[in-house]
Amino acid sequence: MSKWPKQVTIKEVGPRDGLQNEKAFISTKDKIAWINQLSKTGLTYIEITSFVHPKWIPQLADAAEVAANIEKIQGVTYAALVPNLKGLERALAAGVDEVSVFMSASETHNRKNINKSIAETFPVLQEVVIQAKKVGKTVRGYVSTVFGCPYEGSIDVEQTIKVADKLFEMGIDELSLGDTIGVANPRQVQEVLEQFLKRFPKEKLAMHFHNTRGTALANVLASLEMGITTFDSALGGLGGCPYAPGASGNLATDDLLYMLDGMGIATGVQMELLVKAALFIQEKIGRKLNSHYLQTLNESECQLS
Ligand code: HMG
Ligand code: MG
Repeated sequence: MSKWPKQVTIKEVGPRDGLQNEKAFISTKDKIAWINQLSKTGLTYIEITSFVHPKWIPQLADAAEVAANIEKIQGVTYAALVPNLKGLERALAAGVDEVSVFMSASETHNRKNINKSIAETFPVLQEVVIQAKKVGKTVRGYVSTVFGCPYEGSIDVEQTIKVADKLFEMGIDELSLGDTIGVANPRQVQEVLEQFLKRFPKEKLAMHFHNTRGTALANVLASLEMGITTFDSALGGLGGCPYAPGASGNLATDDLLYMLDGMGIATGVQMELLVKAALFIQEKIGRKLNSHYLQTLNESECQLS
């Protein structure tokens, strides 16, 4: 019997994690058009923006307008990041389906990213979860710097588990484990997951890899072997956290899909439509995106022209 799962869920974080690190502003109209294209690819989950402070992430200052004006397709969950109650209020007013709360396993990254200590963050997120649940929304949690921090170096898995425990106690529906700066390797992924799977069901865990050092797909494989079936990725390998120096591109959705398609693992996502959406945002960003799959297309296009 195959050790691979039959099916995997890809959560597209390109419009949020992918764009938040882009300096040149992508117009609201183009963001909306891109999300509308992504909606038609077969993806069932798109993180469309974040309702953080616009001064902290200027690229996503148009969150409300984006969320309110996309064409929603049945069967697709449209989610957004929220750091606090103010963010939740804005997200609810704009009609998102799900909110994601986020914090870090590293004290220093948490402070640099959301201006609070870890202890100060818990009550803020607790209130967000309570209020979101009151109005029937699902809540996703993120824990960042699970595999290493740009300020503190290696992070003890016990520290990450403490944060995860608190987030699940608050009532989050799923937890995404972030390799924020792309330092993880497959052995470390399996060691961390071994500890997590002793405490939390695999269905409640997602993996969020950045490909900064080229290990993201290897880390997906290591996670698949451990029974994980939900992965975050950003089309074209866009992305990074502006408050984590050295963080670059997320795992690319097109590279992930290429691998999963080839392995016979179903995702429901259609490569042709995904590539169309990638070429659209590549043109708007004005440089070649760095996913491997897209580069092979870019190169063959160059050879043709
Ligand atoms: P702060 O300055 O400490 O906020 O920022 P505050 O609560 O002291 O409020 C100051 C002012 O900001 C007030 O306005 C608030 O109303 C306003 P004033 O009364 O002075 O006029 N304010 C807001 N305005 C709009 N929307 C809001 C909001 N909240 C407060 N939500 C804060 C704290 C959390 C807001 C700030 O630090 C922030 O926005 N940080 C976000 C940073 C960020 O987005 N980082 C990237 C995402 S995380 C990531 O990429 C990692 C991930 O991908 C996983 C991985 O890779 O590991 C998820
Ligand atoms: Mg990220």
